[in-house]
Amino acid sequence: MTRPPVRIAAFGGTFRADSLNRHLLDAAVRLAPASADVEILEIRDLPLYNQDLDPGMGGGSHPSAVAVFRAGIERCDGMLLVSPEYNWGVPGYLKNAVDWVSHPPRDSVMVGRPALLMGASTGPAGTGRAQLAWRQILLSIRTPVLVDALQVPLAHTRISREGELDSQLEEQVVALMRTLVGEAEVARDVGLPARLRQPSTNPVAGMYFAPTTLSE
Ligand SMILES: Cc1cc2nc3c(=O)[nH]c(=O)nc-3n(C[C@H](O)[C@H](O)[C@H](O)COP(=O)(O)O)c2cc1C
Repeated sequence: MTRPPVRIAAFGGTFRADSLNRHLLDAAVRLAPASADVEILEIRDLPLYNQDLDPGMGGGSHPSAVAVFRAGIERCDGMLLVSPEYNWGVPGYLKNAVDWVSHPPRDSVMVGRPALLMGASTGPAGTGRAQLAWRQILLSIRTPVLVDALQVPLAHTRISREGELDSQLEEQVVALMRTLVGEAEVARDVGLPARLRQPSTNPVAGMYFAPTTLSE
């Protein structure tokens, strides 16, 4: 029996024309295993979070751009999040996007879908501080984050204005996308999203909740 392709939802980057993070996102999509179905979810049109418009928090219906974004997450098996680092933390617009899809608690579309972090910065830290913050945020909403991640310091020296990656970076992206697709397939096959919807006292869910479990 032919198995359906593993579906990956990719989002992030910044909105400026020459965004290094957007180049990285586009390259990761291009370099993903051919067997996977990778879809970019655009977040540019998401409004600021408003609980009154979040049915997951007792509000009315989602604005249409949120509904589209949410549906993209819902149909994926794993996620790629490409985030810059702003002021040693996560950028507001990307946190806003994740906030829109983070409820109801324990039952949101983010639960149990493995996420890979990538990020590019012009500084020497390569978005490492933002990624630590992302791990904490994603842990709180039961999104398992792969231990392996990509941090690109001095990214303007590694990614061209046309979006070409240097060969070493390209190899890293290929390897990480292969890992993500593998982890997403495992999560799909074991029904990880459903397991993680169990209360955290459940020993099986607790086991998978440990952020290192999926890739060690
Ligand atoms: C508001 C703001 C805050 C920034 N803070 C950091 C930072 O904390 N660490 C860092 O390495 N770079 C920081 N930078 C520099 C970014 O790494 C750089 O602008 C990068 O190119 C942004 O990603 P982009 O190319 O995808 O737009 C900051 C940039 C902006 C605009």
